[in-house]
Amino acid sequence: MHVFQPIPVDTMEFNPFESFGKDWALVSAGSKKKKNTMTVSWGGVGVLWGKNVAFIFIRDSRYTKEFLDAGEFFSISFMGKEYREALNYCGSHSGRNTDKVAEAGLTWNYKLSIPFIDEGSFVLLCHKLSAAKLTKDSFLSPEIAKWYADGDMHTMYIAEIIDLMAR
Ligand SMILES: Cc1cc2nc3c(=O)[nH]c(=O)nc-3n(C[C@H](O)[C@H](O)[C@H](O)COP(=O)(O)O)c2cc1C
Repeated sequence: MHVFQPIPVDTMEFNPFESFGKDWALVSAGSKKKKNTMTVSWGGVGVLWGKNVAFIFIRDSRYTKEFLDAGEFFSISFMGKEYREALNYCGSHSGRNTDKVAEAGLTWNYKLSIPFIDEGSFVLLCHKLSAAKLTKDSFLSPEIAKWYADGDMHTMYIAEIIDLMAR
């Protein structure tokens, strides 16, 4: 297991375009006993309701969504470029039928019983504040509809960042 140091969230040096958009991350939720993870490349961090927040977008079909909806917490583990293959694996296989983390050569770790990925270079622990389903009638640009041809809609999870850990 790696040793992670807590870092004050407001001192975080973070480029969302790079960390989410280019390097990708693993969103994990559940308990020590039953949990799942999946690759995400859409999301961000910011300030809302007087809190430091992270937001992610998860489609209805994802097994991870069941864990996100059932629990209060989740983690976002940001991965270095050397984990590209593992991220591709966790982004193309469902945890419904495989132990993805082991098969991708990754390891579970926990803080406050929240599962995260031990190989992450830094990890956000998040406490859910809102889960808002995006609906087609809210789209203002016709160009967006192409992302939802099969009706598999995103839910936006907005969560307070309760811990930032780096190693
Ligand atoms: C690079 C990449 C980025 C992805 N980003 C997202 C995302 O932001 N939201 C989402 O719902 N699915 C995203 N996916 C797809 C899920 O990771 C994929 O469907 C995964 O197999 C779901 O696993 P699960 O069913 O075990 O939860 C992404 C996949 C890849 C490869």
